[in-house]
Amino acid sequence: MTAYDACFSKIASEAGVEVLLVGDSLGMVLQGHDSTLPVTMNDMIYHMQCTKRGNRGALLMADMPFMSYASETQTLENAAALMRAGANIVKLEGGAWIANTTKLLVERGIPVCAHMGLTPQSVNRLGGFHVQGRDTNQAQEIIEEALLLQKAGASLLLLECVPKSLGKKITASLEIPVIGIGAGADTDGQIMVLHDLLGVSPITPKFVKNFLENDTRGIPGAMSSYTAAVKNKAFPGPEHCFK
Ligand code: KIV
Repeated sequence: MTAYDACFSKIASEAGVEVLLVGDSLGMVLQGHDSTLPVTMNDMIYHMQCTKRGNRGALLMADMPFMSYASETQTLENAAALMRAGANIVKLEGGAWIANTTKLLVERGIPVCAHMGLTPQSVNRLGGFHVQGRDTNQAQEIIEEALLLQKAGASLLLLECVPKSLGKKITASLEIPVIGIGAGADTDGQIMVLHDLLGVSPITPKFVKNFLENDTRGIPGAMSSYTAAVKNKAFPGPEHCFK
């Protein structure tokens, strides 16, 4: 799941969450923007430092924010800054066009998670936060580009908002683990935005579930329920998946 500060990273890592993403979703859920585009490197560094202080053993992933990997020099400097702040791995949004960037980072010792499907930093090009890969050609393109990113050295793939069948196909095609969000139940893992899990987000996409509302143990209980539901495949259910 995502985390942005010491308090929640402590609770989440103690509840068994294995990967904590300091996501640029902080622009929407913490800062109140309508997209992730305004998030800066300074924001990411600050929240990674906070998250690291509370972490009790989860892998820490940091988003490289919008335009922070536009050139080779920028990429290396910005990824290094996130690693110094506590990240174990950085996440980049894109397809084939981030293959060289992925290779560059991996060669220099920085593990990469590629983020495909709905890539929120490209919301203006995509025309909104819509499900991706419903069209056969686009689905095939996503599969081919995911294979390319695996070949370039990506350690993980985060797959957002694609039909369940495509999530399954991509997961079967790749050797690296695929973490899904709105990508169906057949990916290797799941990720959810903290505020969605707690039911305090301004919007509720189809693929989220409020784990707090029926948990009498409070926030730590909600996080334990979430990790258990993901591990025993009770979440996501058919109602959380796209066709
Ligand atoms: O920034 C973020 O929170 C993300 C989500 C898709 C998990 O990348």
